[in-house]
Amino acid sequence: MPLIKTGGLADVVGALPAALAGHGADMTTLLPGYPSVLKALGRVRAVHSWTSLLGVPARLLSGKLDGYPLLVLDAPALYARDGAPYADAAGQDWGDNWQRFSALGRAAADIAGGAMTVRGKPVRFDIVHAHDWQAAMAPAYLRFAPFGGDAGRVPSIVTIHNMAFQGWFGPEVFPRLGLPGEAWSIDGVEYHGGLGMLKAGLACADAVTTVSPTYAREIRSAAFGMGLEGLIVARGRAVSGILNGIDAATWNPAKDGALAARYDARKLDRRTANKRALEAEFGLDADDGPLFIVVTRLTWQKGMDVLLEALDHLVGLGGRLALLGSGDSAIERALHEAASRHPGRIGVRIGYDEALSHRMQGGGDAILVPSRFEPCGLTQLYGLAYGCVPVVARTGGLADTVIDANPAALAAGVATGVQFDGVHYDAFSAALTRTVDLYGRADQWRAVQKNAMKCDFSWKASGQAYADLYRALTA
Ligand code: ADP
Ligand code: GLC
Repeated sequence: MPLIKTGGLADVVGALPAALAGHGADMTTLLPGYPSVLKALGRVRAVHSWTSLLGVPARLLSGKLDGYPLLVLDAPALYARDGAPYADAAGQDWGDNWQRFSALGRAAADIAGGAMTVRGKPVRFDIVHAHDWQAAMAPAYLRFAPFGGDAGRVPSIVTIHNMAFQGWFGPEVFPRLGLPGEAWSIDGVEYHGGLGMLKAGLACADAVTTVSPTYAREIRSAAFGMGLEGLIVARGRAVSGILNGIDAATWNPAKDGALAARYDARKLDRRTANKRALEAEFGLDADDGPLFIVVTRLTWQKGMDVLLEALDHLVGLGGRLALLGSGDSAIERALHEAASRHPGRIGVRIGYDEALSHRMQGGGDAILVPSRFEPCGLTQLYGLAYGCVPVVARTGGLADTVIDANPAALAAGVATGVQFDGVHYDAFSAALTRTVDLYGRADQWRAVQKNAMKCDFSWKASGQAYADLYRALTA
């Protein structure tokens, strides 16, 4: 279970230690000391301290989470704040995010190089695996300013969970990073005249991965690379796609304590109780027509504007929608407005509610994921596991994980959902029509649900793929 979460990154980083343990890799996770993280820590001990980590005092706390080793960077000047991890309560990014997360990268490089001592002995690590721009300075420090000189230069990987978030800051911060002048270059941390933190990681890491094979291809183009496509192409075979898995201990409808009725692929009838409970919870009419769900950050990436355009069509088809999300306030307002136009047909819950997201997957008939881009996407994987049929845009990880219910796939008995091309009204509303038609053919719908629930998106294969990569880089 993640200690702090704004989206799928937390699910993935939270699941990786267990995913890798079976493949002979011992993973220690380093997290910033956000208030919620410090609060959740059990017994810890201090294993290192910095009098000045990029200008602020910091301590390193060592503990365990679910049996796996955890390090927490306790630097109150950087992390002891209310609000979300990257922004204040008003949603404004913290102005010192460059410092907050460069410090994280500096700390990771120090720790990997042997700064931390346990019972008087320095502990070293074989490899650093950094996730997204917030951690992507670690490879830059490892390359340009390793702890203890060349001996502290350990290999590194950057995983891109979302190319849209890059961590760009003005050039005035460079002198405060503690990097040598040579790091300010096209091969280092400089990007469009400022500090590019994700760019730094992509340039300096020994390997770059992203969270699906299709997204790994897509980011080679301008439409998905968001300015970094040239660097991705230049890194060539150092870039690969490794699909996310799902944590089967958390996402299993047969054991899910959040559900009114637990079920498996042989007892799909039990889902009806969950559906009734969900209708009641969202103030929706109770009927046997299709109940769509959406669980998402409310952003342009997720195609929520197109969902809004298609809501009248969805209701016109006899569908209902239960939506849980938070984010863009204009989208929130528009959703509330749509809900009041369609009482009993559209229910909206603004906020973040983990248990409710489970009840929705367990009671909804189909989950809508009309993302413009989706590096991997997890909600469609949870939908597959719960027999909540995913209706997805054919992009990124959505393209890699859902098999469209076209006539050939239906005949072959392999369809697991519905895909559509292009996130715009025509394509999306046609996909909704197709889904409602399929739902009306009860036997076929059941077959699709069962195929979906049979899919194996456990971490088995991807854990192996990461372990292989670690081995190749440390050989
Ligand atoms: P992203 O990381 O881009 O937001 P993913 O599909 O990879 O997209 O992961 C989203 C994760 O966050 C999933 O675990 C999903 O269930 C969860 N989630 C998103 N919004 C909410 C919400 N409002 N309430 C509860 N869980 C949410
Ligand atoms: C990002 C992406 C999402 C991915 C998640 C975890 O937030 O938007 O597609 O599933 O990271 O890798």
